[in-house]
Amino acid sequence: MPRLIEQCDTRSHGLSACLDMLSVGFDPEDEISLDNASLALRRLSNDRNFLGDLLIEQLKQNHHEGGHESGYGPQAIILSPNMGSFFLRANIWPSEDEACFRASGAKTFVYGIPHDHNFSFLTAGYFGPGYLSDYYEYDYESVAGCKGEKAGLRFVERSALTEGKLMLYRAHRDVHAQLPPQSLSVSLNVMHVDPAKGWYDQYGFDLENDAVTGILNPTSTECFLRCAIGIGTKEALNFAEWVGKSHPSDRMRLASYEARSRLLDKAGRDVLWRQAEHSGSIMLAAEAASRRAVL
Ligand SMILES: [Fe+2]
Repeated sequence: MPRLIEQCDTRSHGLSACLDMLSVGFDPEDEISLDNASLALRRLSNDRNFLGDLLIEQLKQNHHEGGHESGYGPQAIILSPNMGSFFLRANIWPSEDEACFRASGAKTFVYGIPHDHNFSFLTAGYFGPGYLSDYYEYDYESVAGCKGEKAGLRFVERSALTEGKLMLYRAHRDVHAQLPPQSLSVSLNVMHVDPAKGWYDQYGFDLENDAVTGILNPTSTECFLRCAIGIGTKEALNFAEWVGKSHPSDRMRLASYEARSRLLDKAGRDVLWRQAEHSGSIMLAAEAASRRAVL
């Protein structure tokens, strides 16, 4: 499960003091940096007013200012822009009794979707009893990332992110399946930012079968590639062929094969997926074999 951080400081500070303290950057692999970020987050979580004040301010300004842009939904409140190596975020965790939960369903709030993370982050329970998680660990290096592949998940425990609890979720190691809290809860996060991490996969898991269900973090590059191949210009197809053969990301290679296969008839798809089977990538070969099996 995520690493529990003992950080008993009782002082508190607001958002700007927290950002000042974090201005040296955040590297979760460096114990000194981790200690500094943990202390900054502990003091922020000790400030019982800053988030309520900020929300009231945002409600007043809502129609005038957009706030920090993010790819997250309304569950996440972005507390800082990207500061280079981190950004700050608050997350709202509705209980089953909340109208938004009943209207939008559990999956909207990532409940019941077992996953790992392709980034590390510090989290603190800020308000309420906290979401529950079933925690697992696994070895990222031993997983190629094919759908249905054995994941080797090891169950650790079920626990709640209670008020005051501080933890480090470790990229590619900690897996959790979240359940709604007993009542509305809020957590605060220091999210590690590393542009290279976008190329690493975040997986979904099937707990019953101890299997990978797929990649949860498709990139915009992959989406653009699929669109370009669909449009089908000569340049796009030449580029797609290079991506399929040589791109460092297996996910991009798979996207290239998938998009090109949609342009072909059954015999053409068989030839294309056969090439993918001999691509030298374990993940791509397994995906290609399963595509050929259903042709
Ligand atoms: Fe998560």
